[in-house]
Amino acid sequence: GSIHLSDYRPPAWRIPRVEIEFDLDADATEVTTRLRLEPDPAQPPAPLELDGEDLELLAIRVDGVELPPESYVLGERGLRIPDLDGACTLETRVRIRPSANTRLEGLYASRGALFTQCEAEGFRRIAFMLDRPDVMPVWDIVLRADRARYPVLLANGNPVGGGELPDGRHLARWHNPHATPPYLFAVVAGDFGCVQSEIVAADGRNVRLAVWAAHADVPRCRYALGAVERALRWDERRFGRVYDLDVFNVVAAQDFTMGAMENKGLNIFNARYVLADEETATDADYLGIESVIGHEYFHNWSGNRVTLRDWFQLSLKEGLTVFRDQEFTADLHSRAVKRIEDVRLLRARQFAEDAGSLAHPVRPPSYREINNFYTLTIYEKGAEIVRMLYTLLGEATFRAGMDLYFARNDGRAATVEDFLAAHAEASGRDLSQFARWYAQAGTPEIRIRDDYDAATGTYTLEIAQRTPPTPGQPDKHPLHMPLRFALYDEAGRRLRTAPRGAGGADQVELVATRHRLRFHGLSARPLPAFNQGFAAPVKLDFPYSPAQLGRLARCERDPFNRWDALQRLATGVLLERFEAHVEAQDGLSAALGALLDDPAQDPAFVAECLVLPDFDTLAESVQAIDVDSLLAARETLLDQLAFEHAERLRARYHALADAAAGGLDGAAMGARRLRNLCLALLTRLDREAALAQAQFEGARSMTDRLGALRCLVEADAQGRHAAMEAFAARHAGDDLVTDKWIALVAMRPDAGAQAEVRALLGSSHWTPTNPNRVRAVLGSFARANPTAFHAADGSGYALLAEQLPGLDAINPQVAARLLGAFESWRRLAGPRRERVRETLDGLQGRFASSDCRDLLARLLG
Ligand code: ARG
Ligand code: ZN
Repeated sequence: GSIHLSDYRPPAWRIPRVEIEFDLDADATEVTTRLRLEPDPAQPPAPLELDGEDLELLAIRVDGVELPPESYVLGERGLRIPDLDGACTLETRVRIRPSANTRLEGLYASRGALFTQCEAEGFRRIAFMLDRPDVMPVWDIVLRADRARYPVLLANGNPVGGGELPDGRHLARWHNPHATPPYLFAVVAGDFGCVQSEIVAADGRNVRLAVWAAHADVPRCRYALGAVERALRWDERRFGRVYDLDVFNVVAAQDFTMGAMENKGLNIFNARYVLADEETATDADYLGIESVIGHEYFHNWSGNRVTLRDWFQLSLKEGLTVFRDQEFTADLHSRAVKRIEDVRLLRARQFAEDAGSLAHPVRPPSYREINNFYTLTIYEKGAEIVRMLYTLLGEATFRAGMDLYFARNDGRAATVEDFLAAHAEASGRDLSQFARWYAQAGTPEIRIRDDYDAATGTYTLEIAQRTPPTPGQPDKHPLHMPLRFALYDEAGRRLRTAPRGAGGADQVELVATRHRLRFHGLSARPLPAFNQGFAAPVKLDFPYSPAQLGRLARCERDPFNRWDALQRLATGVLLERFEAHVEAQDGLSAALGALLDDPAQDPAFVAECLVLPDFDTLAESVQAIDVDSLLAARETLLDQLAFEHAERLRARYHALADAAAGGLDGAAMGARRLRNLCLALLTRLDREAALAQAQFEGARSMTDRLGALRCLVEADAQGRHAAMEAFAARHAGDDLVTDKWIALVAMRPDAGAQAEVRALLGSSHWTPTNPNRVRAVLGSFARANPTAFHAADGSGYALLAEQLPGLDAINPQVAARLLGAFESWRRLAGPRRERVRETLDGLQGRFASSDCRDLLARLLG
């Protein structure tokens, strides 16, 4: 059944304290839990209903007295005790089976160690509990385990002692003094090593930071530890948030369903977001690690200290924390490049979600399976909403609103309303219309038309907003958003139109369906630029000519918009939207050529401009998705650009060699990025595969080795098999690097990739219990290889679909993610839409999990 936001009731029972003890063992762990239960006098009395799944109940006592079987009801989903009168301590003892837990929710075994994952509803697979985020006990945790197998025993909070036990066992005690809901509970046991450091927090507290991994991986934890230090300092400086425990532990797990988890004081990470060294990590890996370390660390305030009332509020912590991690990266590296990358992801993936069968508001009104709402909409669009607030209120007022939010809601389970109320109060502004962003799905379209009256020197902008219908929401209301803009004259000078806003642009607030802006005293028609920094997450429709876009790419002050002008030009060329098609293409080519020649441009920025809109982004720009023509247009344009600029690409490639040989500083990373893009274009010209071959053989970083290998694979170059074998052999036994070459194989833009994916599925590399490997093989294929996935005969769809029921039986969340690859199927043109429909129909009745059942129903709904 569905759960509705409007049905929220506070729990009738409160649980101020929990004592939980584990006798840890991979095959059979016993968990003894003592819940201090108190009826909430403010709520109508109700029987106690505890959540619990796959738990073998061994004992149950109330205030130390065994409870007779007739006094409780044990069901599939939990335990009901009808006649508890008043406050008491309920003790349950259960047995669970970590080594049989392939869902990786609750307590599970991975490579000889034990880990937990409790968000969203995993705690109920560890113990009977009111497993909801508005239940926030203080915790005492005791871990007992075999010392040889599990020398390291970690849990939430602070370590408060331990000792030896008979039979080679030992024990560790942890105390988490902060009110913490069960989804943030964590335990880790295993044979780990760590790197650690001491840091003095802004309030004088000594904090021991440690990053743990299997002993062989410890040398690869240094960078992550540094990232923790940077995150801690940044949150003190930028948001005034101070760390609140004596230890902060991060542990790397090779088997992990998501990216990472912000458990109080004990963050558990997918190893791919922890482990890095020169031999194995690309620049993108390093940046990804820093960003995810930051994200989980920042949750300590936005998520943990201030937690969620219910799961409908998920974006309250996720959108806010993504905004915070985006700002962290922007402050530490290039703000412009970070914004470009974030908008790329938003357009390619969140816009697709918002326009597809799975569209939902940032705060959905109901759900059947909460795991299906860890989406780009909740995370990325949620972050965009916070960013709009930041833009509307300005740095200082936004910070005051954040301070008020944290102060007022510390130790509470909060709602989106609490967040908006704090900002409304701090700013004195009415945010009631702004709140619609949380309720209304779909990407708004801003249509702007201009008019210049030479006789009066008046320039007029007519602005209209509209949000298209989405499943369950046929009619939309206008949204409150900032619209930043600037006007430029013929010489590229910015015209003063009003008091200057942030970033040298002026800003108006859109609230109505239509607005008109009028400017007087202009001696010629100006060139307008809109939505600097992509301050509003919308699709902008303005009839720019190719020449205007070329001018904007040169004169606009805002670097994001300079990049966006070229993306817009490229999109128009690829979709043949300009009447003067040849001229437009020449204009694009000339603009990119000029960027390549300009030594004053940041290479990282030039690289961003050379990356044309990808398949997903183009698909988002059209009504019906004609796969073949989108793919063909992209290939043709890339070939053309490579051909026209061969000389300067080669020159730039060689000129960047020294800069690219540097370390992890921004300049060296930018140089490698641009250089590898030059190489990718050059490799399109047959005779140049030698250059990729040479780079592959001489590469001194993973970025350059993998970049070259990718070129060889994509070009189907002669040496690709030998290179692939050399790469695989060099990194044999390293699962994270093996995932990298497997992903390259699965992404090869050729119908033949299907056969190679099938070969992988039949090989020893196929370990369907490891989420990273499943994503490397099938995620890469379904999400990043439109050529092979969208094979016209439907064979790519069938390949994915064949695997899904089996994967669903192993790990429903991983399977459901893959099933989501069909989200845009209704807009597919030609026979493909029918092929997907047949494929989805064929999957009906074949899923055991609520995750895949819910998703399939919504896809077909
Ligand atoms: N809170 C985690 C993060 O964003 C994600 C956990 C997702 N877990 C899940 N079962 N869907 O950092
Ligand atoms: Zn998060």
